[in-house]
Amino acid sequence: MARIALRGRLIDFVADPIASAAAVRLVDDGLLLIDDGRIVARGEYGPLSRALGPDREVTDFTGCLLLPGFVDAHTHFPQLDIVASASGGLLNWLTQHTYPAEMRFADPVVCEEAARFFLDELAANGTTSACVLGTVHAQSVEALFTEAQARGMRLVAGKCLMDRNCPPELADRGDQGMHETLSLAARWHGKGRLGYAITPRFAASSTDRQLKLAGELARSRPDLYVQSHLAENEEEVRWVRELFPRARSYLDVYESFGLLRERSVYAHCIWLDATDRRHFALARATAAVCPGSNLFLGSGTFDFARAVEAGMKIALATDVGGGPTLSMLATMRAAHDVARMRGSSLSATQLFYWATRGAAQALGWDDQVGTLESGAEADVVVLDPAATPLLAKRAAAADSVESLLFALMVLGDDRAVRETFIAGRPSKGRRKPTLSGASAADNARTRELARRFMGRLRIAPGDGVLKP
Ligand code: GUN
Ligand code: ZN
Repeated sequence: MARIALRGRLIDFVADPIASAAAVRLVDDGLLLIDDGRIVARGEYGPLSRALGPDREVTDFTGCLLLPGFVDAHTHFPQLDIVASASGGLLNWLTQHTYPAEMRFADPVVCEEAARFFLDELAANGTTSACVLGTVHAQSVEALFTEAQARGMRLVAGKCLMDRNCPPELADRGDQGMHETLSLAARWHGKGRLGYAITPRFAASSTDRQLKLAGELARSRPDLYVQSHLAENEEEVRWVRELFPRARSYLDVYESFGLLRERSVYAHCIWLDATDRRHFALARATAAVCPGSNLFLGSGTFDFARAVEAGMKIALATDVGGGPTLSMLATMRAAHDVARMRGSSLSATQLFYWATRGAAQALGWDDQVGTLESGAEADVVVLDPAATPLLAKRAAAADSVESLLFALMVLGDDRAVRETFIAGRPSKGRRKPTLSGASAADNARTRELARRFMGRLRIAPGDGVLKP
């Protein structure tokens, strides 16, 4: 049995900072005892260290913060080859960059390489759990689960369901997508720390029949997750209105097919009205808020104030490659900036909560992750407030936990992540500076596929509107 101990400043949450002024729990000089991937004791270094046996190695992170590992509530592992690709907005970005890149995942070798690279990058950024979209190819999710299982990660993933308004190379044929969903769920859901998500990509890329079948499965299997995109971009919302003229709203499309319920995770949720927010909260669904992506693609700004007021469950998410980074620190900063643009302010404490315990609770993982409580799975991120000269200078002037966390989220990135423990195993150092992904020849081929596909859709480069 692996028995380790981590020394450092322990910070976690015992409540939602919105609801409690005493939500943060702090031990300045703390110790976590970890046996076989689980936290078995926590507390002050002094008394706990005196009781340590000789068989337990203490790793000293004095000067660093130990927090629950970050949870990324929505991201796309096949999109790292096209992260940071310029676009004219969501729909143009999907056709020009995203769909062509996803076509490469027909090849299982591409899937395996991409899965390894992606999970290395998550760990490098301090993220220990995520809800992840694959491509339409079952093998993409098979590769991701295989790799996550080998690392002992808590991860939710699903293959995209899409059977219209997408390139034929990426379209499910007949009910094949649902068959693959059932077989992947049977193979992986509940295996180790893994969970399966029924994943209609977005309302516009599924027929009524596919949404109906997905909804029937969601109703009959409340243990499975549902993940999709919702009300991200105004053009997309207009398009969905045309495709589903009888629906009251974009949300109503999912709701009417039985896809809005607990364990449903909807990315973006920007263009909602008060009725939508009420239904969303009542259903106990989770909004995976992706402010970095929303700024990068110019999709809009999430209304934190109204969402909180309506009682919506919120978790933060990177949405790579629409989002420019897998860093949850950068994502918190973007959330802060977006809230400021809408005239409200979010504390660092609140944002760290939504990136750790809040997300874990929203996803039904209460007390398993998102906390440093004894008994929890030992997913821990070690943050170094002296990682860069500027951060060190600013952190030295911090006179409160809030101020220190604020500095970390504004100035920090993967350099501030000293180590990431996944089920007690140090996991950051796996990243190698090797190129895994598209070669120049691959890129030329995908650009050509994109050109042909866009021709078929009668869409001009730079034109943000898809006209199928
Ligand atoms: N809507 C449908 N597919 C996608 C995607 O891959 N990324 C984002 N951000 N939105 C989408
Ligand atoms: Zn997304």
